[in-house]
Amino acid sequence: MTKKIRDQATLTYKGKEYNLDVLKASVGPDVIDIRGLYRDANVFTYDPGFTATASTKSALTFIDGGEGVLLYRGYPIDQLAEKGDFLETCYLLLYGELPNHSERREFVHAITYHTMLHEQMNKFYNGFRRDAHPMAVMVAVVGALSAFYHDSTDINDPDQREVATRRMVAKMPTIAANAYKYSIGQPFVFPRNDLDFSANFLHMCFSVPTEEYKVNPILARAMDRIFILHADHEQNASTSTVRLAGSSGANPFACIAAGIASLWGPAHGGANEAALDMLTEIGDPANIPRYIEKAKDKNDPFRLMGFGHRVYKNYDPRAKIMQKTAHEVLSELGIKDDPLLDVARELEQIALNDEYFIEKKLYPNIDFYSGITLRALGFPRSMFTVLFAVARTVGWIAQWKEMMDDPKQKIGRPRQLYIGPERREYVPQSKR
Ligand code: SDX
Repeated sequence: MTKKIRDQATLTYKGKEYNLDVLKASVGPDVIDIRGLYRDANVFTYDPGFTATASTKSALTFIDGGEGVLLYRGYPIDQLAEKGDFLETCYLLLYGELPNHSERREFVHAITYHTMLHEQMNKFYNGFRRDAHPMAVMVAVVGALSAFYHDSTDINDPDQREVATRRMVAKMPTIAANAYKYSIGQPFVFPRNDLDFSANFLHMCFSVPTEEYKVNPILARAMDRIFILHADHEQNASTSTVRLAGSSGANPFACIAAGIASLWGPAHGGANEAALDMLTEIGDPANIPRYIEKAKDKNDPFRLMGFGHRVYKNYDPRAKIMQKTAHEVLSELGIKDDPLLDVARELEQIALNDEYFIEKKLYPNIDFYSGITLRALGFPRSMFTVLFAVARTVGWIAQWKEMMDDPKQKIGRPRQLYIGPERREYVPQSKR
């Protein structure tokens, strides 16, 4: 429940004063409640890109962009990444507290025993070309889940919402692994109940029927940490897409499919794939100054992918952990020096000391180092955003759940600043 405080903001418009309530945050910026403004003053507020607009209240994730802080239900991301695991983080995001032993056992069992896909779903992949981008496959297959799971699409039934929630978290790794296997022409690998979430995912992606595949525990731990880092991130573009889709009463599978579509964009989750392409194109530290100039050139659409953030005006705390994970994975795999990592580190150093990046507060974000790590783990670049989607599904569904649990939930319907023509009469073609 958001506590109202007596604080008020006063707006003077066309000579009249409007007193607007200020709603208090538990931490971070308070908000000015403008819900009555159009009714009272016949005026909208204007904020394309929502740079200063709170679209909802939420108790899930807090970001302090100035300080580079990220908390999931109050817990710092670095502590969760170092001391926790992904399914425990899923429980925390979904239910608000870290699980005790019995809560954890029940939740892990429920997820483990929901990882299989309806056998007919597996046939769905055959409609795609083998070279289809796996994100296109994910959007389609996740959207199709609502055609298979009628018993968990009544969004007004809290029990069905819970079943859909657990199904989504459990099945995304299987759907993603199948998309990868399909793209390389290998048979799908069934999930294994004796493996934990991330080990099972690596097994489904990289094992083949012809020999036993032993999951490297260091790499599985790295994969698990990468999932934790990507799990949720407040009201980002894809999460806002999921909320807006869900606000109309669309079923959760369709909402998650909408979130996947939004995440695909290179300005958002697609940046990890784009960042690796950029590092590959730069190729050698000697070429970095030319690319820095391109990034600063207003007439050049080129941007440093993996740099900058709408909220972080400091180092993305996830990027620091991702960089450390990159080193761990590369050394575990005996990769002494990765030329792309050298380019990334040199690029980061040059950019962080360049006036343009300092003035615009552009720092590496989570996508800057993730591509290097995921490539070292054996994933092709086309799978990078798919992995982001596997992790972010718990954040999307937790945010959707929070919205649907709110009895005051309304359909999202923004207005606009209309700049088109005023009313005019129809002109017959003979007179045009
Ligand atoms: C993710 O929102 C989230 O939380 C997202 C995410 C999550 O977990 O869900 O954190 C995941 O999407 C991380 C961001 C991944 N995207 C990229 O790495 C793509 C490269 N970054 C940029 O496209 C950009 O920084 C954005 C999209 C991330 C943020 O853009 P904003 O907030 O709209 O900022 P802006 O585009 O208005 O940029 C402000 C200024 C501009 O210059 P001016 O017009 O003021 O002169 O900074 C410049 C931009 O040109 N700028 C860059 C830049 N990013 C911004 N210049 C060069 N290279 C860049 N990367």
